[in-house]
Amino acid sequence: MKSFKPLVFSGVQPTGNLHLGNYLGAIKRWVELQRHYNCLYCVVDMHALTVNPDPAELMRHTREMAAAFIASGIDPQKHIIFNQSRVHQHAELAWVFNCVARIGWMNRMTQFKDKAGKDREKASLGLFAYPSLMAADILLYRATHVPVGDDQKQHIELTRDIAQKFNMDYSARIAELGCGVDMQAGDNTVSGFFPMTEPLISDTSMRIMSLRDGSKKMSKSDPSSMSRINMVDTAEDIAKKIRKARTDSDPLPEQADGLQGRPEADNLVGIYAALTGKSKQDVLAEFGGQQFSQFKPALEDLLIATLSPISAEYRRLNADTAYIDRVLHDGAKRASPIAEATMKHVRDIVGFPRG
Ligand code: TYM
Repeated sequence: MKSFKPLVFSGVQPTGNLHLGNYLGAIKRWVELQRHYNCLYCVVDMHALTVNPDPAELMRHTREMAAAFIASGIDPQKHIIFNQSRVHQHAELAWVFNCVARIGWMNRMTQFKDKAGKDREKASLGLFAYPSLMAADILLYRATHVPVGDDQKQHIELTRDIAQKFNMDYSARIAELGCGVDMQAGDNTVSGFFPMTEPLISDTSMRIMSLRDGSKKMSKSDPSSMSRINMVDTAEDIAKKIRKARTDSDPLPEQADGLQGRPEADNLVGIYAALTGKSKQDVLAEFGGQQFSQFKPALEDLLIATLSPISAEYRRLNADTAYIDRVLHDGAKRASPIAEATMKHVRDIVGFPRG
């Protein structure tokens, strides 16, 4: 019985300002996963085109993102780091998926609603079809696991819907060509061409919120740089941002449920927990009853100790454009044959004549 080989795929948009939320929500996990899986980590520059039409900036951010992956600990020799636009099969599969996915599915995507704002008629078609390209990124490699922050959960669910509809719509053809792979669906074994990809989402405490407003997620696009810790921030920047981070006036609670209704306290305790790998309860066992004036310096030290080596390495790598370009070029060279092998099957399945 053939089954899907475990494979990890994930991506980040090169929109600048890689921040602590990206690190704790995704990249820290990527680094851990490379010990157990074959991984592809992608700088999704085609996705970034939906929000960043400045060519020089897009190119610079793409290199910066690759440098940040390596500085965070991804090994480009053992795993594949590449940028999406270099592997043209992403666009090709996305088109096929545009013909599988339904407009109703896309209309439900909360990220589209947020990004398009009030005047949806003026949003680009690319922004609307964004999740279909994301499904193509993942399924082009028939990836089984996708580590992301929980804001991406809906997109991964949509990826599964697209995979399932494709497998069903073309089931006869897949059987005829013998290119199906067995997978478990409840108690049954079913055959399909694309896997039902599993999202790997850390528990909800890993959604890192803005330092200025605990109800908004930390985001690359927040106009206030005080709202986020950037991966390239200096020790002084980090210290300043944590000192100024919004809090309430009560001491920290002794129990984790005391964080309810206190989003800023919850966020800072969550960041401390994520950085140390402890639970929030363990953090409160140490700091419960203390004032923020005591907790913040400890958090500051921890952030600086974690991020300083990464940002120093990032600066070194980022200055070496030739090296980063080699990594991206080599990564795309290794990703392309995997992508092409999938697309050959897809073209046969959907009925595009070969040769
Ligand atoms: P992007 O570039 O917005 O974010 C990259 C990763 O960081 C996570 N993240 C967060 N996690 C916790 N707290 C936060 N405040 C926070 N902000 C961002 C995101 O969940 C993500 O994992 N659509 C994707 C990029 C993408 C992709 C893919 C991901 C394109 N194709 C295929 C996985 C697989 C995005 O916009 O991520």
